[in-house]
Amino acid sequence: LENGLALTPPMGWLAWERFRCNVDCRADPRNCISETLFFEMADRLAEDGWRELGYKYINIDDCWSAKKRDAAGRLVPDPERFPRGIKALADYVHAQGLKLGIYGDLGTLTCGGYPGTTLDRVKQDAQTFAEWGVDMLKLDGCYSSGEEQAEGYPEMARALNATGHPIVYSCSWPAYQGGLPPKVNYTVLAEVCNLWRNYDDIQDSWDSVLSILDWFFANQDVLQPAAGPGHWNDPDMLVIGNFGLSYEQSRSQMALWTVMAAPLLMSTDLRTISPSAKEILQNRLMIQINQDPLGIQGRRIVKEKSLIEVFLRPLSQGASALVFFSRRADIPYVYTTSLAKLHFPDAVYEVQDVYSGEIIRGLKTGDNFSVTVNPSGVVMWYLYPVTQPWRIVRQQAPR
Ligand code: DGJ
Repeated sequence: LENGLALTPPMGWLAWERFRCNVDCRADPRNCISETLFFEMADRLAEDGWRELGYKYINIDDCWSAKKRDAAGRLVPDPERFPRGIKALADYVHAQGLKLGIYGDLGTLTCGGYPGTTLDRVKQDAQTFAEWGVDMLKLDGCYSSGEEQAEGYPEMARALNATGHPIVYSCSWPAYQGGLPPKVNYTVLAEVCNLWRNYDDIQDSWDSVLSILDWFFANQDVLQPAAGPGHWNDPDMLVIGNFGLSYEQSRSQMALWTVMAAPLLMSTDLRTISPSAKEILQNRLMIQINQDPLGIQGRRIVKEKSLIEVFLRPLSQGASALVFFSRRADIPYVYTTSLAKLHFPDAVYEVQDVYSGEIIRGLKTGDNFSVTVNPSGVVMWYLYPVTQPWRIVRQQAPR
């Protein structure tokens, strides 16, 4: 969507995967969907180094609203869980240099059973969100038909634009249409939405991460060209820092989401996150790669029966990111290849290992090299040519 927003994949925090529709604030006051949760996460984003790295959005998901609209038909937050209202939350977040995201559902009800946005409510709800100062909208698609979605998603894009308030627009539309053509038209989608969920909800498990990965790369010929500045595929939240992924698997999700040019929306408890999960999520070079201004989504370029896979993302200034991923479960995989075999142009390269920081200089295209990839883990390289034969300009003799 060409609204000048999300020129790189959005980064921040989204409540859903970790905090779900927990509305029992009596039993679980620290973790229920309430303003306290969002105030506290905003403080963490602002104080623990996240904001400076680009994690700016703090996003509310389902179950924030009251079960009924007000007398004027407006959406209102649950008065007990959000006593100060969404505007106050937005003001607080903005004062911290952050941005606020909210959730709606194009349909009669949200997936969690809260009031939805039917076609006749699209304009009104866009107006409400803009008046509150909301900066991003995730529009889910439970309880609506394909026809209603084909009308409603573009209608919401126009309604948001008409408010005059910049609002990043995240659509769940393709996820409700199977994610693939002919039902999903990626040209239209890129014009209507800033990002879109194509596939299943992520869960806190390696199986879930793998199934998402498999689907996205099996369909890379369709999905990869659809992404670019202002319009991104969204394979769903980062579950790093939760309970289901090992250390290696956490590093893999981060690397592979980065290669996919995916939004980096964490869904974890930033109040209690471990130092190792934080280190993965705060890797500067990783984030620089994820946020590369060219916004080219990467592709899987090698898929070996022996369970090694290689992914490549082209970056600005002739640089690239390579991810070597092992599906082997038993022992580290020692994989030998060369840049020539990976179809790199002839040059001498400098390589930086994104996780270890190790630097390799003078790697020629034809040189064989080996990487050791841990089970369900990755080795990730950032590399760039230091000599490009076709660019060497002969020095003029001084006159
Ligand atoms: C389905 C979406 O895909 C999830 O990300 C989450 O928003 C839930 N609905 C909320 O009910």
